[in-house]
This record gives sequence, structure tokens and C-alpha cells, in this order.
Amino acid sequence: MKNTDFLQQVSDSETKIILDLLDKTAATDGDIVELGCYRGDTSLLLQRKIEKDSHFANKKLWIYDSFEGLPQKSAFDASAAGDSFQAGELYVSKKDVVMRFKKAGLKIPRIRKGFFENLDTSSDLPEKISFAFLDGDLYQSIKTSLELVWDKLASGAIVVVHDYNNPELPGVTKAVDEWLNAHSGKLEVRESLAILL
Ligand SMILES: C[S@@+](CC[C@H](N)C(=O)[O-])C[C@H]1O[C@@H](n2cnc3c(N)ncnc32)[C@H](O)[C@@H]1O
Repeated sequence: MKNTDFLQQVSDSETKIILDLLDKTAATDGDIVELGCYRGDTSLLLQRKIEKDSHFANKKLWIYDSFEGLPQKSAFDASAAGDSFQAGELYVSKKDVVMRFKKAGLKIPRIRKGFFENLDTSSDLPEKISFAFLDGDLYQSIKTSLELVWDKLASGAIVVVHDYNNPELPGVTKAVDEWLNAHSGKLEVRESLAILL
């Protein structure tokens, strides 16, 4: 599913799970974030939800990407299956993502360009988060994403991490497992989604 830049990044059935989980957070305080938005396929669906479902009318979408492609892998990301995930892969420009929102007739979400490791928790992230979709593919990217969102999660918030148990991206599973060992949280796994409740 994730072997080239141009394929759909999240399967249809995973997308359905994500949107069903999002529904559960309609009454939860806070905004929606996606760390690792790439071309914005999932971001467009999240923004459409905000604009078309009145239960989400008070929420904002914040999306994040380097817009320079993937950073360097660490040793934890090494896998024969995942050889295609090299630094710079999955490049898309911020301008292209903005254009896709415009073409879809949707408002432009808050878009932050930069590596997650350089984000400022107070100015670059919402004060409170109700739903977080973390899709940064690599060990350090997922670890950093969890660090960025964790203290901002409202009661009842849901965190969804993509590529859990994906043999191509072993660093994702390691980052989630380490996080849950060190922090309280319940893990549910559906397809390749780790759902932290
Ligand atoms: C699999 S794609 C995201 C797919 C997207 N969530 C979707 O649903 O279509 C992963 C993205 O994460 C970004 N990324 C990975 N690690 C990052 C980091 N540390 N900082 C910023 N962006 C990162 C890459 O640039 C890439 O665009």
C-alpha cells in the first residue's frame, strides 16, 4: 500500500475506522491534528467533516508536514521490506496541498511546515486536542508526535497511529510500544491502526 509516492497512503477500510473514531470525539473538547499529512488525502476528509457536520463546527484542523519528504531513518526503522522509505521520499509542496483544499471547495486548515522535532508546542499546536492522527512513518517521527500531543489531549481524546505492525515500518510499532510502557493508555489495534484511548 505504501510502496510508492503516488499510491493511496491509508486504505479505504482504515479511513472508515479513522472517521468512525473521529465521530466519537465530536463532544470532546479541543481541535483535530494530523502529523504527517503528505498530499492531504486524510486531511481533506477531516476538514470536510468539520465543515459538513455541525457537531464539529467548533473544531479546527491543524496539519503538519516537513513538505520536504521523510527525514533520515534511524536504526529502529531498518527493514528489508521497507527499503523504499528513504529520506526525501513522499515529498509534496505545501502549495500543492493548499491547492487541493481550494479545488475541493474547503477552507484551508492551519498548516505548519517543518520537521516535527522543530515545532513549538505552545505556538504550533492547539491548546487542547480531541483527535490526533499520527502518520509520520518513522520511529523518531512517531515518538516526537506523541510527545507533542500527549499533554494536550482532552479527556476522551483519541490518538490514532498509522502503520502499527506494518513490517515495512518497524519503528512505528517500537515507538508506540515504548510510549505505552512509559505512559498510561489503552491500546486497541484495528488493521494497521494503533488506537490509543
Ligand atoms: C505516509 S505520509 C502521510 C500520509 C497522510 N497522513 C495521508 O493520510 O495521506 C508521511 C508523511 O509524514 C511526513 N513526515 C515524516 N516524518 C516527519 C517529521 N519528522 N517531520 C515532518 N514531517 C514528517 C513525510 O514528509 C510524509 O509526507
